[in-house]
Amino acid sequence: MATKKIYLYPLWLRIWHHVNAVLMLALILTGISMQYSNPNYPLIRFDIAVSVHNISGILLTLSYFYFFLGILFTSIGRHYVMKQGFVKAFYQQARYYMFGIFRGEPSPFPVNAERKFNPIQQITYNVIQHAITPVTFITGWALLYPETIILNVFGYSGILLTSLLHVAAGFLISIFLVIHLYFITVGHSVSSNMKSMITGYHEVHDDEKNNSSESENESPSEDSGKTN
Ligand code: HEM
Repeated sequence: MATKKIYLYPLWLRIWHHVNAVLMLALILTGISMQYSNPNYPLIRFDIAVSVHNISGILLTLSYFYFFLGILFTSIGRHYVMKQGFVKAFYQQARYYMFGIFRGEPSPFPVNAERKFNPIQQITYNVIQHAITPVTFITGWALLYPETIILNVFGYSGILLTSLLHVAAGFLISIFLVIHLYFITVGHSVSSNMKSMITGYHEVHDDEKNNSSESENESPSEDSGKTN
């Protein structure tokens, strides 16, 4: 039974996340359909796939800046700041994911009000949000206005290089999504992380308490107050 609830996902963040997930899925499906389309048997009719992809890409850019301003100007941003001792903490979490989790060991970085993400989640979310997603939409905008692309880069077509970068970033996001979907099932129960992303509250259970290997300079404080 949950002994405490921590408000970790404020409404603005949940709205962003769900809109982002729908747009990303639309982009991945239409992107795959355009990439591998057989004109006779398209997964999605080509002209429809192009329109949905373009509109979703424009909306995704807007939603990205909404997210960026959110983490810049609310206290949620602190969860994305990587602290000293990160490498050791990353190793501890990787060891837990590879062995400890299967032996029923306690999580080395249980969730608390000051630490929403374990080190692997923290670096993954940072890379996806601050590198791969921006590369995807910047190259997408460039392909929407190809006249802005440098024609020749060291002898290679600028348009070809831009589209390669765009497709590679899209594939990385697709891989992230598969891994993300797996890891959200390894909370206290299969559905508990999903429930948190819907209600905003993370439930702390007795077996999650006092397990932390506090290698970062953080106290394992838990509070039930709102943190947005
Ligand atoms: C059907 C698709 C998706 C589902 C069901 C889903 C589910 C979840 C859940 C349950 C969480 C909370 C647990 C946690 O913090 O790890 C979460 C967090 C997060 N997800 Fe997803 N997700 C989906 C798609 C995506 C996509 C496509 C992206 C980005 C490309 C994404 C980025 C994030 C980020 C950055 C967080 C942390 C947000 C924060 O608390 O600051 N998710 N997701």
